[in-house]
Amino acid sequence: MRTAIVTGGAKGIGKAIAGRLAHDGFTVVVADVDEPAAITEAAVLSGMGIGVDVSDSAAAKRMAATVLHRYGSIDVLVNNAGITGKAAPVHEYPDDEWRRVMAIDLDGVFYCTKAVLPSMLAKGSGRIINIASISGKEGNPNMPAYSTAKAGVIGFTKALGKEVATRGVYVNCITPAVIETWNVGMSRVVGIGWRRGLANSEQIAAQLQVSSAEAIGQKTELADADQAGR
Ligand SMILES: NC(=O)c1ccc[n+]([C@@H]2O[C@H](COP(=O)([O-])OP(=O)(O)OC[C@H]3O[C@@H](n4cnc5c(N)ncnc54)[C@H](O)[C@@H]3O)[C@@H](O)[C@H]2O)c1
Repeated sequence: MRTAIVTGGAKGIGKAIAGRLAHDGFTVVVADVDEPAAITEAAVLSGMGIGVDVSDSAAAKRMAATVLHRYGSIDVLVNNAGITGKAAPVHEYPDDEWRRVMAIDLDGVFYCTKAVLPSMLAKGSGRIINIASISGKEGNPNMPAYSTAKAGVIGFTKALGKEVATRGVYVNCITPAVIETWNVGMSRVVGIGWRRGLANSEQIAAQLQVSSAEAIGQKTELADADQAGR
């Protein structure tokens, strides 16, 4: 039995990745801050749902311990949980929002990785896949926290990849452009300023402009990319 944890797996891209992993024969752990949704989604996949806030180091450790206790090993970790955060120029960007985005998008990747890594190193195999963003490669105007956190995820992937590759643990990163999720769909339809200034249609257009993508991608395409990284 091979076990995969997908953080933020109750919705959007994480849900598509979790579904693909289950289809490929993995026992999937859906780990999400929305515990009821995680449990519901896990039930569909005959896996396990766990409520976890990835920005909480102790909660990440508890998640890894629970999975190891139940299944004996963790073969794949997909660090997918993430938020876009508020859209605002740097000189107006609220300090607490900056911290919130860093805590979930960057610290969360570190905490979850740190929690599962000892067991992967001990058995000499494992796959870690981090979902970053084109924003981390190119920088998106008015998304300073998101762009910075995702650039951090790319750097973290490279550093850790070199650290553990000779020990059977392979670390990769995916940097999607714009993927059609509920949030993206709503932002496109409702327009600028929807839900506290989350990704709006201008930002989506800017993201597409800096990428080689001609159109908004689909979640299934991303799940295919995730599969290629395993
Ligand atoms: N949708 C896109 O266009 C796009 C593009 C590039 C990168 N990404 C990245 O892909 C990942 C998934 O994005 P999405 O569009 O599917 O988002 P989404 O909002 O649809 O889903 C995110 C999931 O993460 C969970 N989550 C949020 N905060 C959490 C926390 N602190 N701890 C645990 N779970 C938490 C949410 O409950 C939700 O289930 C994110 O890292 C995002 O930055 C998305």
